[in-house]
Amino acid sequence: AKGARFIGVGSVAPTTTLSNDDLSAFVDTNDEWIATRTGIRARKVLQKDESLTAIAAEAGKRALEMAGVAAEDVDLVLLCTSSPDDLFGSATQIQSAIGAKGAAFDLTAACSGFVIGLINARQWVTDGKYHNVLVIGADALSRYVDWTDRGTCILFGDGAGAVLVQATAGDDDRLLGYDIRSDGGGYKSLKAPLQCTAAENAGAPPRGSFQPILMNGREVFKFAVKAVPQTVSASLEEAGLLTDDIDWLVLHQANQRILDAVAERFHIPHEKVISNLANYGNTSAASIPLALDEAVRGGKIKPGDVIASAGFGAGLTWASAIFTW
Ligand code: ACO
Repeated sequence: AKGARFIGVGSVAPTTTLSNDDLSAFVDTNDEWIATRTGIRARKVLQKDESLTAIAAEAGKRALEMAGVAAEDVDLVLLCTSSPDDLFGSATQIQSAIGAKGAAFDLTAACSGFVIGLINARQWVTDGKYHNVLVIGADALSRYVDWTDRGTCILFGDGAGAVLVQATAGDDDRLLGYDIRSDGGGYKSLKAPLQCTAAENAGAPPRGSFQPILMNGREVFKFAVKAVPQTVSASLEEAGLLTDDIDWLVLHQANQRILDAVAERFHIPHEKVISNLANYGNTSAASIPLALDEAVRGGKIKPGDVIASAGFGAGLTWASAIFTW
């Protein structure tokens, strides 16, 4: 069996910014409430003529450039998303936009998608089947938010991030421990379910579309502060590491209070917690690679550093991975 290493990262966010003040123009909220409850000050949103596919492809190209890997050497494009540009998925469109030649498919696991995708990519390369797997986390939840619901619309933003996972020698596996969990019993606390409307033509089957995001914020908050320590502990144990060994905590960027609670639970100092949600909000499957990209390019995360990463969200799903950069 082979090992896996993580050798390139890239990210792109849309150029249009919606600040908390911008939101307060059309929903009853204010910057102070949003900033204290969530840490979010602004988010980036795609416009009508922009596509998730385009920013995801650009993020992928940036990761390939850092990795020094040519697009035609990518064996698999794994797109982690809950909001593709097409019902049938967007991975193949990204694959052609990048100029990759191998396989491509979508993986859906809400805000846990990127971590689960990273673990999957590692399985593909250690299996010996693929040499280079490009994992992209990209979401545009702005398109599924009810912009009259102040309880949810303040939270989400759009973005894309990518990491190149490459096969390496079996004794050099940089994924040290991982854990994936889910609980369909908690589904109701965060969902965007299908609804079917009566057919326009009598006798024809009903037509489906998705409802906007429905969330019980308190339930999700309670779930996150319990689930994340649980999964990170499991991955640490598998890795044979202690919390002191963690150089960087790179969690799904949902809420600063969740990041703080998890860091406190593990006694991880504030300086080791990567946070960029003030500028982007919750970008779902994109949040971890976006944060990772800024931290790597900003010179914080260095080769050999131990990263503890965890995603959590709708499903409910939660997952973690401990890996070295
Ligand atoms: N502006 C002003 N007031 C507001 C707003 C707003 N945007 N939203 C709610 N309020 C009001 C409420 O109406 C309520 O008023 P009341 O006391 O008069 O009834 C009061 O503020 C408190 O509301 P709560 O919902 O109890 O506020 P809470 O402190 O729980 O914060 C929040 C809400 C920020 C949503 C929090 O629960 C949270 O972050 N939860 C986690 C959500 C999350 O991370 N979801 C994404 C998961 S990842 C994925 O898979 C997509």
